[in-house]
Amino acid sequence: MQKENAPEQKASSLENMTNHQFRELIARSVGDRRAFLPTHLAIEMTNACNADCIMCPYSAQTRVKGVLRADKHALIIDKIKAWGAPINMITHAGLGDPLLDKRLEDKLVYEKTVFPNAQVIVYTNGGLLDEARARRLLASPVDVVSFSVNGFRKETYENVMKISRDTTFANIERFDALRREQPRRVRMAVSLVKTDLCSTEEIKEFVEYWRGKADDIILPQWISWGDYFEKPPVEDDAQIPCFYIWKTMMIDHDGTVKMCCEDYDSKYKMGNILEQDPNEIFNSARMMRQRGDQLRGDFSSPKICQGCSEAKTSARGFWLQAALYPTQPPVCGDGLAAAE
Ligand SMILES: C[S@@+](CC[C@H](N)C(=O)[O-])C[C@H]1O[C@@H](n2cnc3c(N)ncnc32)[C@H](O)[C@@H]1O
Ligand code: SF4
Repeated sequence: MQKENAPEQKASSLENMTNHQFRELIARSVGDRRAFLPTHLAIEMTNACNADCIMCPYSAQTRVKGVLRADKHALIIDKIKAWGAPINMITHAGLGDPLLDKRLEDKLVYEKTVFPNAQVIVYTNGGLLDEARARRLLASPVDVVSFSVNGFRKETYENVMKISRDTTFANIERFDALRREQPRRVRMAVSLVKTDLCSTEEIKEFVEYWRGKADDIILPQWISWGDYFEKPPVEDDAQIPCFYIWKTMMIDHDGTVKMCCEDYDSKYKMGNILEQDPNEIFNSARMMRQRGDQLRGDFSSPKICQGCSEAKTSARGFWLQAALYPTQPPVCGDGLAAAE
């Protein structure tokens, strides 16, 4: 006879819950705690890009273009370390291409020196990854390079991304060959965001092509970048507290900390980490109020949160294995398991 509350039974009962029931469970699990430490740093090295994808608001941003200076980057990493945040992941994407930052690899070295257990991930379109740069990137402590390849056929790819498919594919394939020559395995992912220009047939071709080459082939869920594009319809319209406000510190190239990765123009600023203490930003009265609002099912403020798809299916994944680190002991992740 199967035992009551066996792990597989529990997982399936969680998966079958409506978003509304799921949110109530999260609220019970979190209780009165509102102040937390992030586990994920998302650092924008630059907001300049060599491409201009049709599904990305890159050219609509009004932010001043720039690159995060190495000394400022080190200051940010040092501040987060001194704060005691248990960082286990550092990603580099933002609204630009990290390869435009000539000192990217030096910064990755510093991140890994300070946070040796953090997984370091770089997202890039790969258009600038010539052989010399590929060798430099592979010599850095990067753990994962995720190539954004938003089309498979030449015409589609170039109409979507506005850069040369031949150059990019040659760059990615050279990178793949070089990484296989070295003893330390750097993981390689390729992703394709489906646009109207890309057919389902073409996606199958993409997957077939990269199978056996890339370690991960990702077809990300479409995001609307706040209200920039139309928000995708979802079956269960209720929202779940969004993982960004619990686990991620999202930092622009000028030190601005924002609440949400979809906030491409950084309209919803939480503060500036170059000028402020990280805890004062991440656990401000406003952030703690917003966590409480979302636990009660109120997503009306700020406006970017209304109907956001990140606070639906993607958020479930986070909460199913949630490790929330309170700023006060006990430092443990008891997530949903404790609430049932
Ligand atoms: C904004 S880019 C920045 C990093 C880098 N330039 C790149 O393309 O990988 C980060 C990721 O967002 C993805 N992306 C852009 N627009 C998207 C959309 N509307 N829906 C889902 N993902 C999107 C890109 O394909 C890329 O993988
Ligand atoms: S998705 Fe990446 S590559 Fe494409 S325009 Fe946006 S930032 Fe540039």
